[in-house]
Amino acid sequence: MPHILSANQFTKDDIDKILSSAHTMETSLKNGAVKKLLDGKIIACIFYEPSTRTRLSFETAAIRLGANVISAEDALGNSSAYKGETIEDTARTISSYADAIVIRHPIEHTVEAAAKATDTPIINAGDGANQHPSQGLLDLYTIQKEHGRLDHLSIAFVGDVLHSRTLRSLIPLLALHQGNTFHFISPESLAISQEYRQELIDKKISFTESHNIEDGLPSADAVYMMRVQKERFKTQEEYDRIKDAFILKPEHLALIKKEAIIMHPLPRVNEIDIAIDTDSRASYFRQAQNGLYIRMALLLYVFNLA
Ligand code: NCD
Repeated sequence: MPHILSANQFTKDDIDKILSSAHTMETSLKNGAVKKLLDGKIIACIFYEPSTRTRLSFETAAIRLGANVISAEDALGNSSAYKGETIEDTARTISSYADAIVIRHPIEHTVEAAAKATDTPIINAGDGANQHPSQGLLDLYTIQKEHGRLDHLSIAFVGDVLHSRTLRSLIPLLALHQGNTFHFISPESLAISQEYRQELIDKKISFTESHNIEDGLPSADAVYMMRVQKERFKTQEEYDRIKDAFILKPEHLALIKKEAIIMHPLPRVNEIDIAIDTDSRASYFRQAQNGLYIRMALLLYVFNLA
């Protein structure tokens, strides 16, 4: 049975299958007709980093499909990791209780290490600044629902593009579709790394970079706002200096196309003025709701039931 570790692992066929299964989940939830396809299964959610949407929507997804959930939130402090247990030993142990394991961890590639230690499907719910594949897929599902297509789109990523695992998950999914272009708009110190820049060039992905929020807005079909990732900074001072660098304000709305959408993986700190929430282009709470349908589809996918 497959692990879900990175958005880079998916083919276009996989994506089509997952988006279509998410659509079925959305419709059947709305009709009160969800089949209990995971009846008797146990899903473990082990989170070594804070989470609201990801953990609670994975748990809701499991329960809606008839599974039961076991859970360790704040696992750095409350699981045997606190005593020094390795992720490999933890994964091997939990796999003897649960049928699938959802893991979030602050250190890049730790979830892959867990997956190497067991055949029980592991789902990466975010590993440091690396990957967050379920978020990438729910972002993709949102774009498809709101725009009716996944090609020939211009996406402006605004904010902390350096540390964003959600950006690194959405880009490869959109890059499998024709004609998409990406614009990274960030303070200079939070621009994409040279390594990632080279990776995009090698993969022939079309992108531009700028340090002025107003640059990327007029051409964008989706403006993807991002939080400055406080937990990735070494000192509070460093974070404080940059935290309010880019804020989307009501006066920016006139620069954004009428048919564009404004996205944010959430949580928002203050990078989108709350006055924007009532604009019909603000799609971030719809986006969070789509996470439930995608995570239902992903649980089915790892059991080969999608
Ligand atoms: C994102 C994450 O954890 O990477 N949140 C989420 O899962 N919706 C974005 C963030 O924390 O800024």
